[in-house]
Amino acid sequence: MRSANFHYFRSNSSKMTYTPALNRYQGMEYRKCGNSGLKLPAFSLGLWHNFGLVNSFENARNLLRTAFDQGITHFDLANNYGPPYGSAEANFGRIMNFDFRSYRDELIISSKAGYDMWDGPYGNWGSKKYLVASLDQSLKRMNLDYVDIFYHHRPDPETPLEETMSALDQIVRQGKALYVGISNYRQEEAAKSIEILKQLGTPCLIHQPKYSMFERWVEDGLLDLLGREGVGCIPFSPLAQGLLTDKYLEGIPEDSRVKTSGKFLNESHITEDRLGKTARLNTLAQERGQKLAQMALAWLLKDERVTSVLIGSSKPEQIVDSIKALNNKSFTADEIRTIDSILG
Ligand SMILES: NC(=O)c1ccc[n+]([C@@H]2O[C@H](COP(=O)([O-])OP(=O)(O)OC[C@H]3O[C@@H](n4cnc5c(N)ncnc54)[C@H](OP(=O)(O)O)[C@@H]3O)[C@@H](O)[C@H]2O)c1
Repeated sequence: MRSANFHYFRSNSSKMTYTPALNRYQGMEYRKCGNSGLKLPAFSLGLWHNFGLVNSFENARNLLRTAFDQGITHFDLANNYGPPYGSAEANFGRIMNFDFRSYRDELIISSKAGYDMWDGPYGNWGSKKYLVASLDQSLKRMNLDYVDIFYHHRPDPETPLEETMSALDQIVRQGKALYVGISNYRQEEAAKSIEILKQLGTPCLIHQPKYSMFERWVEDGLLDLLGREGVGCIPFSPLAQGLLTDKYLEGIPEDSRVKTSGKFLNESHITEDRLGKTARLNTLAQERGQKLAQMALAWLLKDERVTSVLIGSSKPEQIVDSIKALNNKSFTADEIRTIDSILG
């Protein structure tokens, strides 16, 4: 759903004051992002789903408050999160004003451009024209002077990498982003981008790939590259949008992403094969004293090259639940073998 121009309803609760939990930094682990001086929380919260104009504003606000109370200092956005496009950033901007303005320096806020955003030849992909204009729009929607991390969202086969990387470099030099990253880049194009950014003097901070027990392509060289180059890694969809939880084992709940959204995750993804694997993984998780979601997240965090796992949540209690993965993130060799054999 496109639209950069939309109106928002006013929330009566905007005057409710928020005081973050005083002990918010005690339970979270913070990991160095590659060779940089920046630390990210082991869990970051993404605003892809549940923050659009179509969603409950109060729930979105509670999700962000709960996350921050748990020590999650990193919120991840993109120009087109919604729906409609832009509305997750606009809602986030309002919540920033209501609740987080005093805590800006405790937060790492990221946005991205690279997918379809507005009509015409300058609202998509990877030209300098698109990236610079898109970040200007994102900053306005979020009421921010700068983002902490700005990503190119996906590689563009038609724009020279030099141009896209020079746009990222320019954005940092203009003070509109502190760091830059790439997302969805395969190993070879990631290697070239990292090298170009190094030459430009704006090192690539982080790569954001899709990575979970069900999606392991990053293990075929990309993770090794990031480790070698000192670039952080923040896997997105670490629960495969909810498939790596126990929620679909007994049918499809009405409040699940499959029913409430259905665009990127639908019934066709819940195959017999997946359900069989999920059930076996669930048994192993129970033996480890964890829920399946917690084991799936811990499994990613066992690798030190993974800086943070980028979770999504539809309910505040899911955030609290997922973070408990930190209570057990070591795996025996036997457990790893069992997981590999279940996943095939
Ligand atoms: N760079 C990219 O191209 C790209 C692409 C996609 C996503 N991302 C980023 O990654 C973030 C996360 O993606 P994602 O939302 O797909 O991540 P995910 O963590 O794999 O899935 C999140 C969904 O899983 C369910 N869930 C989460 N915690 C749970 C728990 N403890 N117990 C049971 N169910 C739980 C919820 O679904 P229900 O609605 O069913 O409750 C939740 O909405 C996005 O917000 C975005 O920032 C980036």
